[in-house]
Amino acid sequence: MSSVSAQHARVLSGMRPTGQLHLGHYHGVLKNWLELQHEYECFFFVADWHALTTHYDDPTSIPDSSREMVIDWLAAGLNPGSATIFVQSRIPEHAELHLLLSMMTPLGWLERVPTYKDQQERLKERDLATYGFLGYPLLQSADILVYKAGQVPVGEDQVAHVELTREVARRFNHLYGREPGFEERAEDAKRKMGKKNAKLFDTLKRRYQEQGDAEALAVARALIEGQGNLTLADRERLLGYLEGGGRVILPEPQPLLTKASRMPGLDGQKMSKSYHNTIALRDPPAVVEKALRTMPTDPARVRRTDPGDPHKCPVWQFHQVYSNDAVREWVQTGCRSAGIGCLDCKQPIIDGVLAELLPIQARAVEYAAQPELVRSVLNEGCERARDVARETMEEVRHAMSLVMAI
Ligand code: TRP
Ligand code: SF4
Repeated sequence: MSSVSAQHARVLSGMRPTGQLHLGHYHGVLKNWLELQHEYECFFFVADWHALTTHYDDPTSIPDSSREMVIDWLAAGLNPGSATIFVQSRIPEHAELHLLLSMMTPLGWLERVPTYKDQQERLKERDLATYGFLGYPLLQSADILVYKAGQVPVGEDQVAHVELTREVARRFNHLYGREPGFEERAEDAKRKMGKKNAKLFDTLKRRYQEQGDAEALAVARALIEGQGNLTLADRERLLGYLEGGGRVILPEPQPLLTKASRMPGLDGQKMSKSYHNTIALRDPPAVVEKALRTMPTDPARVRRTDPGDPHKCPVWQFHQVYSNDAVREWVQTGCRSAGIGCLDCKQPIIDGVLAELLPIQARAVEYAAQPELVRSVLNEGCERARDVARETMEEVRHAMSLVMAI
């Protein structure tokens, strides 16, 4: 990935403040964030405005949920020295960009986002026929584009939102990146790279535009990003020129699909608060142990002497996450021959989950005891985030003619 520009390497993701996190969040999202923070410039934020789109009638719990969630992030190992950790509602630029993007986003694009109808169906008890709820994915687009993020780690269900973001960015660049005299300006910018690079640029541009050569596109992008002497505006012109459009003011992000292991819940369905099948990161060890001891197994094993089938048992799914091949082999043989009991089978899981949770819980206790520290992590994160967001909005306002020369 070394040829990718810093901008394209920027990673951004958000989580709605749901309070204390559970093992599903940890295995599905957080572990991925922990790895990314060492590889890329990362921005992770609390999507508290997004929580309002569904819980506008009861916002009182949002601040507590946000704080508890951030404590879990830190306890899990998110490092404020590597990643920028912040809160959406503290960066008003998200709202400004959301408003401006709303002017040029066709209604049909939002109505067609699959989560729109799905969620309205699923959360029937709430009145989600609101303007804000329809705009949920566009707010997410603003979150992403205001940092010019290149990669957005999300689950399956959110890919459509990143796709929408790409379309919105393309439309924005198309509408507002076409300044007067664009081609001449791009040619001028090209010459500033020097004769050799300008010629290389032409070749790569031709290879991309005439033959759709993606490799040429990547090399040309890297070439442009490597030009320290070019202004940001010139680089944006060249990026757009390369692809045959206007200036690329808001780059299109890519979804980064989490390759995470699927974390089952205690009943074998996906782990989720609404299914009441979770183990919270901060559940006391005795609670964790009891929950695992009493979780259902293959119903065929009524008595200890009845053989079972791991594939009909949620405990087996936990072994997929926590056990090595040798243990799994032991489970397969022991279960099918009734050689082991279900409690024997669960013991390595209990040990594995506790070994994972205990250090997290110890750190969570420390962070919870130091609200000042958590506050300062967020203050610093918000400041860093806001600097980037401000810069983007300067450009966006310029592109949209929202600056008066008086
Ligand atoms: N919609 C995301 C979710 O429900 C949260 C979110 C908000 C987000 N803004 C984002 C994720 C920007 C990635 C990028 O999980
Ligand atoms: Fe499930 Fe293990 Fe019992 Fe088999 S032995 S039914 S895999 S808990």
